[in-house]
Amino acid sequence: MNFLVSQGNLIAAKADAIIVNLFAEVRAPDGATGAVDLALNGQIQTLITNSDITGKLGEVTVLYPTGGQVAAKRVIVVGLGSALTFDLAAVRTAAAKSVAKARELGCETVATIVHGAGIGNLDVQAATEALVEGMLLGEYKSDLYKATRKSSPLTTVKIIEFDANKIDAIDAGVRFGAAQGRATNVTRDLVNQPPNICTPTYLAEQATALAENSNLSIEILEARDLMEARMGAFLGVTQGSSEPPKLIILRHTPENIPADTKPIVIVGKGITFDTGGYTLKTGAGMLTMKSDMAGAGTVFGVMQAISELDLQVPVIGLLPTCENMVSSHSYRPSDVLRASNDKTIEIVSTDAEGRLILADTLVYAQRFAPRFMIDLATLTGAAVVALGQGQSAALFGTNTQLIHNLQAAAEASGERVWHMPLYPEYSEYMRRSPVADLRNSCNDRFAGLGTSAAFLKEFVGKVPWAHLDIAPVAWLPGGKAVKPLGPTGATGYGVRLLVHYLRNLI
Ligand code: BES
Ligand code: ZN
Ligand code: ZN
Repeated sequence: MNFLVSQGNLIAAKADAIIVNLFAEVRAPDGATGAVDLALNGQIQTLITNSDITGKLGEVTVLYPTGGQVAAKRVIVVGLGSALTFDLAAVRTAAAKSVAKARELGCETVATIVHGAGIGNLDVQAATEALVEGMLLGEYKSDLYKATRKSSPLTTVKIIEFDANKIDAIDAGVRFGAAQGRATNVTRDLVNQPPNICTPTYLAEQATALAENSNLSIEILEARDLMEARMGAFLGVTQGSSEPPKLIILRHTPENIPADTKPIVIVGKGITFDTGGYTLKTGAGMLTMKSDMAGAGTVFGVMQAISELDLQVPVIGLLPTCENMVSSHSYRPSDVLRASNDKTIEIVSTDAEGRLILADTLVYAQRFAPRFMIDLATLTGAAVVALGQGQSAALFGTNTQLIHNLQAAAEASGERVWHMPLYPEYSEYMRRSPVADLRNSCNDRFAGLGTSAAFLKEFVGKVPWAHLDIAPVAWLPGGKAVKPLGPTGATGYGVRLLVHYLRNLI
């Protein structure tokens, strides 16, 4: 999908459909919608008067112009909801709904205004970003292996603005929105891939291809490198699998910044399939566990986006990836592993594997002398119990500024975070092993979320660090959750959040 920005009048736009909007309170449309309504001889007004359209958020109505005043074949009217609650999230939802309709109608070209840039009073660049993101996310389909899979017919979106003074801001919005939206869909594709395809080796190949097509540099640590680095925790998890583990390192190094600028390191859990190991999951519990590499998928998407945008901040993405399988080589409950910072860990549950591969990776990250370190992981079912499916990620951290900036990025991107406590008692709980420095699980139902973060904290040294448990938001199961911006399955959560965070650091 390409976005073309121009100054002009929507009525004259040649397209398979033009898209206008309607607030719920509006009894007589004005602005661009009003102008189109006049050209339609008041058809929109008639629908409003008869309560046949209400302007409810995401409501989509298709009209067919007669009389030759409107150049396009169709007019799509999308509801923006109440003007009182209108925000960027509403723009994304409206854009996603209208584009899904255009795709269904087989449109190749659509023309739209920027919802909210006029009467909505939103910042023009931010509204454009939300529009473009919503269109890209709304167009996404997860039918990767269906015989009926069709690529979207929609190739061109013309964004038309009457006011020439707004064009620069719209151009900037398209640049950021397109990079963020496309990268989110790349992450979705990685996470939606089945686990027989998306192995650690596949992730390494995809990362290599990304580096070849961008300015990112890449290094891949193999099993022997992990042994050399004495990553006993990571190696314990992977030893049951015949798929070789990888620690993928992607680096974005902007050219014109001082060479000694400290990087931001982002780390993503990349378990390509989590059976639970000998602490075996149930069949139902295993069903969505191909998504246990969503943290790594998000880091991949973030690196793609920031390289495309050439953000002037050095960022290193670390993707530790392996499988958690059952075999005669697998690690057992009661095993004791030694992590690369020499802390020993009693394995209480082989299903608490994510924190083990993250432990060694967080230790490794410290060699880059990071300014901040952020990890993303589908770490606990407890996070889902606490926050619900699809609502918010759980945020932990050791640094007030970092937490605050991530909260601000959540606000701007619409990807929610909720700050949780890191009480010292959680750490004590994890240190209560009779045989080792730490245990990897407490073996009870209590504080599963806080204790998982406290475990990671043992491996971050003095680097200011934040942890995002994305288990609630990385994957949307069918039927249950609210999912305005895409289908069931991978959400690509965190790409927009982290790109916003990194943009605002500059
Ligand atoms: N990958 C799971 C967490 C998960 C569960 C993500 C459900 C998404 C949906 C993780 O490896 C795990 O199994 N965690 C255990 C930790 C426990 C043993 C301390 C859990 O949540 O039960
Ligand atoms: Zn697990
Ligand atoms: Zn897991």
